[in-house]
Amino acid sequence: MDDSFALGNFIARAMPWTRHDLSSSESASIPLLELLALADSEDSARWQHLELGYAAPRGADWLRETIAQGYPGFGPDDVLACAGAQEALTCVMQALLHPDDHAILVVPIYQPSELAVTRRCSTTGIPLLSRDGWGLDIDQITAAIRPETRLIMTNFPNSPTGATLDAEAQAVLVALCRRHGIWLVNDEVYRLTAAPTHLVPPIASVYERGVSVDAVSKGLGLPGLRVGWIACRDQEFLAQALLAKSMLSSCLAGPSEVLARVALRAAPRLLARNRMVAHANNALLLDFLDRYPDSFEPHVPCNAAFALPRYLGPEGAEAFAIRLAKNAGVLVLPSSLWATPLARFSPDHLRFGLGRGNIAEALLAIEQVISTPKYNSRQMSLPAGVPPIRDDPSGVNGRMRAVSTSPCAIASDRKA
Ligand SMILES: Cc1ncc(COP(=O)(O)O)c(C=O)c1O
Repeated sequence: MDDSFALGNFIARAMPWTRHDLSSSESASIPLLELLALADSEDSARWQHLELGYAAPRGADWLRETIAQGYPGFGPDDVLACAGAQEALTCVMQALLHPDDHAILVVPIYQPSELAVTRRCSTTGIPLLSRDGWGLDIDQITAAIRPETRLIMTNFPNSPTGATLDAEAQAVLVALCRRHGIWLVNDEVYRLTAAPTHLVPPIASVYERGVSVDAVSKGLGLPGLRVGWIACRDQEFLAQALLAKSMLSSCLAGPSEVLARVALRAAPRLLARNRMVAHANNALLLDFLDRYPDSFEPHVPCNAAFALPRYLGPEGAEAFAIRLAKNAGVLVLPSSLWATPLARFSPDHLRFGLGRGNIAEALLAIEQVISTPKYNSRQMSLPAGVPPIRDDPSGVNGRMRAVSTSPCAIASDRKA
């Protein structure tokens, strides 16, 4: 089988055995009617009178205006709507890279994004360093810059490591790019699920050649809408990206545009609910991993999307993940799926999605595979009080504030 999308292939192969899917990095989705119930009167009217012709190539003005509100000082003209982050990244690379260029890619990174770069020009991979808690070595980036280096591509917050750049490191990276006139493209699809203390400004808002790519897919849990975007202040670049888009999806689906706007305007409520689910799941996971110190080295994530503990068993993380899928019906992703020819990345980890449903049953099923049960199933239930979104908006928002004040929302669940 062609493994140029190893992650997708692994999921497809394991799916027939899967009863508990912890492979996802997106938050739980909500039904259409539940989302529509969050619409304000303007969007309700838009929905009811929606015509199904071709939509505007750059995305509806009102959608781009809402997206632009996430980028200080930006207006609708600084945004290009695309069919998911994936199309956005393809358009960015098509617009910026030529065969004689050189690119720098910080790895690990989502494989289709890696290929969108490496298939266009010569590429140097710079690995996040596990010994430094997945830190970025700016000196390595500096050393990799050549006269023909056109762009640096990153994914912060990063999947699968959860690594983020702090404001200081971001400023150093921006200064380096500015000095050399290099574009800095950041895939920011996990920005909304980052712990508040680990949130830095989107790259497009701090650098004139910064390109932010994002979507409603992950934090808002709506990948089925296929709504993503590019944000950048450079109009010439956006015009080139639009040209690339005209050869792909041309325009978004009109219904998705309305629903994406509803979700963006209701983002605080959706995120509050999604964070509560992730917090509860993270607490369950850490508690579980702590009981098996011979099998796992726990990871305290600073992103609500996933955790990446190290697997210590002799057969290795990939073989264990396959055994889990076959024998327990549990799908988790081994870090070997992010392997890249550009740099070494540890194959010893497992990515557990935290955002969807209650992972207690999945953990019980894993336990049956690793050893004699030590876990009491009564300890494995979700804490009460994860309400449906419509129940009590003010209560949900109140709880979100309490979560946001912790130094690291997800990490703070860790027991001392
Ligand atoms: C890091 C990263 N970037 C981009 C994408 C693609 O996002 P979308 O579904 O919005 O195209 C994914 C999907 O898993 C991802 O993990």
